[in-house]
Amino acid sequence: MIIKKGLLVFFVLLFGFRIQAQKFEELALTPPLGWNSWNKFACNINEEIIRDIADAMVESGMKDAGYEYIVIDDCWHGGRDSLGFIYPDFTRFPNGMKALADYVHSKGLKLGIYSDAGTKTCGGYPGSRGYEYQDALQYAKWGIDYLKYDWCNTENINPVGAYTTMRDALYKAGRPVLFSMCEWGNNEPWKWAADIAHMWRTTGDIFICWDCKHQHEGGWYSWGVMKILDMQEGLRKYAGPGHWNDPDMLEVGNGLTVNEDRAHFSMWAMLAAPLIAGNDLRNMSEETIEILTNEEVIAIDQDSLGVQGFKYSSKDSLETWFKPLKNGEWAVCFLNRRAEPAVVEFDWKNENVMDEIFGYVTKFDEVTYSIRNLWNRKNIGKTKKAFIATVPSHDVVMLRLKPLK
Ligand code: GLA
Repeated sequence: MIIKKGLLVFFVLLFGFRIQAQKFEELALTPPLGWNSWNKFACNINEEIIRDIADAMVESGMKDAGYEYIVIDDCWHGGRDSLGFIYPDFTRFPNGMKALADYVHSKGLKLGIYSDAGTKTCGGYPGSRGYEYQDALQYAKWGIDYLKYDWCNTENINPVGAYTTMRDALYKAGRPVLFSMCEWGNNEPWKWAADIAHMWRTTGDIFICWDCKHQHEGGWYSWGVMKILDMQEGLRKYAGPGHWNDPDMLEVGNGLTVNEDRAHFSMWAMLAAPLIAGNDLRNMSEETIEILTNEEVIAIDQDSLGVQGFKYSSKDSLETWFKPLKNGEWAVCFLNRRAEPAVVEFDWKNENVMDEIFGYVTKFDEVTYSIRNLWNRKNIGKTKKAFIATVPSHDVVMLRLKPLK
């Protein structure tokens, strides 16, 4: 009898806890694909831009390539009404968020919004501190599908508590919302956020440059693409289906060279990173569209095994990255960080590629793979022969290997 009672208490506690404390588990089984307003528009946003971006996501072929979320970043806020409910700035969003969400949904896309765990957002608008449940309720009423939750103005706030509170508030509001933490890696969220969020920023903000460090007024830094890539070292073991490392949104189409854009996009795919475009989708060059909609590269990012890639070797700024894929396949990316072209010579059978964390091995001495070049979309032979190619400066050669039976 005592044992039975004990069991009952155990199950009540277990299920009671699950009901109250949970994220929406079924979301982001592969890294999220979408667009966010910040990198291109910063605070200069309004509902017309967001609607036009949704149209452009469909017309450009990005939706067909898998992009799903349209995310409104900072500065959409008007204020709080007498009951404390948040409302948008009606000069920028005259029809309100519900109408905008309806429009985005009518295109077969989903709408995301931005808030902050502190008293104010980074742009100085009302944060969710103390209003978490009310804000989550309001987002659910509007039909919001994604929340990016920032970390400005959070002095003396415990990060685990703050992000857990918003997770619980979203869950309680009842509408599935993908929860994107933007805490910049300050408190190593990869160690504690897998049950809280679907993705967490690992670094400070990205900057439109290949390898620079940009200092802002106030002393904080933004980071070039290569700087952010280097900061991912050691984090791959924490990512997997439903919980991803987020090295920040894409700068593709925002001013890097085409080679650099291609390298940036490829490396984010190798990292199984969320691919959140940050450019003006209404006005893209052919090259930008080609990069953002390369389905074969996106498939590397979206592979259902959900394993983040790793740097296998590095010599004189020429790096070789591997990413295990489902069915024993692999992605390989040669990244040339030099200011001049580099020749790759990779003799597969002499290389012992091993994923020391997840246990995948290539066994090139026993298994032969077919090779496909993902950027020129050509099948280029087998791993029996050494691979030789020239990689342009600040560019990649990206391959997919398939084991032959
Ligand atoms: C922080 C975030 C950015 C962006 C801005 C908005 O800097 O890291 O991604 O959301 O705030 O103010």
